[in-house]
Amino acid sequence: MSVKQRLLEELENNRGQYISGAELARRISVSRNAVWKAVRTLLGDGYDILSEKGRGYCLTDENDILSPQSIGKYLDSSDWSDIEVERCVSSTNTVLKERAAQGAPHGKVLIAEEQSAGRGRRGNRSFASPRGTGLYMSILLRPKISSEEALFLTTAAAVAVSEAIETLTGREAQIKWVNDIFCGGKKVCGILTEASFDLESGVPDYAIVGMGINITEPEGGFPEEIKDVAGAIFDKTPPGDAKCALAALVLKNFKKYYETLAERNFLEGYKSRSLVVGREIMIIQGDEKRRALALGIEDDCRLRVITDEGEELLSTGEISIRLQ
Ligand code: BTN
Repeated sequence: MSVKQRLLEELENNRGQYISGAELARRISVSRNAVWKAVRTLLGDGYDILSEKGRGYCLTDENDILSPQSIGKYLDSSDWSDIEVERCVSSTNTVLKERAAQGAPHGKVLIAEEQSAGRGRRGNRSFASPRGTGLYMSILLRPKISSEEALFLTTAAAVAVSEAIETLTGREAQIKWVNDIFCGGKKVCGILTEASFDLESGVPDYAIVGMGINITEPEGGFPEEIKDVAGAIFDKTPPGDAKCALAALVLKNFKKYYETLAERNFLEGYKSRSLVVGREIMIIQGDEKRRALALGIEDDCRLRVITDEGEELLSTGEISIRLQ
């Protein structure tokens, strides 16, 4: 770890408190001058660090810059230990897929403050990912599960995100089958799970679970094509380090469900938050659109619907639904 990263770790673990330069130098095992240089670099990165003669340095409570240190302080050492944060990448899913193909390990997390080519489901639609107002995060997994069970990665992630939103904002989160999270009737999060399967065994070589959460509305509003549907979890910039706390909480919740995936502990939370059950929907499959009534979510997370032709079970893939 560099001096800058170690310094940030110390300051993060003591947010709002002054620590003397001498004490920081002792803890990091470098000179006071090296501490001062690292403080200057952090100031240049946008961190709000107070310095006072005789008291030392203090990271103020208002910093909400994502970093492994700012997120890691909310996690146990046994939680996700390989977190990388980038200012801007094309897409955290795309980059992590490349890394997975090169052998990156299970449990690697990639987070970006901004994506220049964020991707959504359905024909790789774009996912608006402006700087500073969202959390764009992907997790690389190497699960020993079947292709049918792979759907549970998305549904478990949806519950993990919903719980994190509810804990931090006090708002109710609802899940639009299969991967969209809504608050107050607006879509605040989308999840894109991509996997590469071994053709012989049918077991994924790797899976990437990518989540995009709108924290606040971007300055100037959401893009025209999504402005009627999109919303954010907060009305205005939240105080403190809410974005970092959200990232950590999502990771913690997801770990809890991932480690017990076969037991489907997420299922009740998934079913009870359903936005679609009992409602009229439009099933969209390629160019084809059909009206249906959503009857319920099965234990394998397929959606039971009734159309003019009778009852059927919808699996994910290229099917999507629209509320009527
Ligand atoms: C959707 O709404 O259709 C899914 C959107 C998924 C967006 C997230 S943001 C992090 C990760 N990287 C991407 O390019 N997409 C996912």
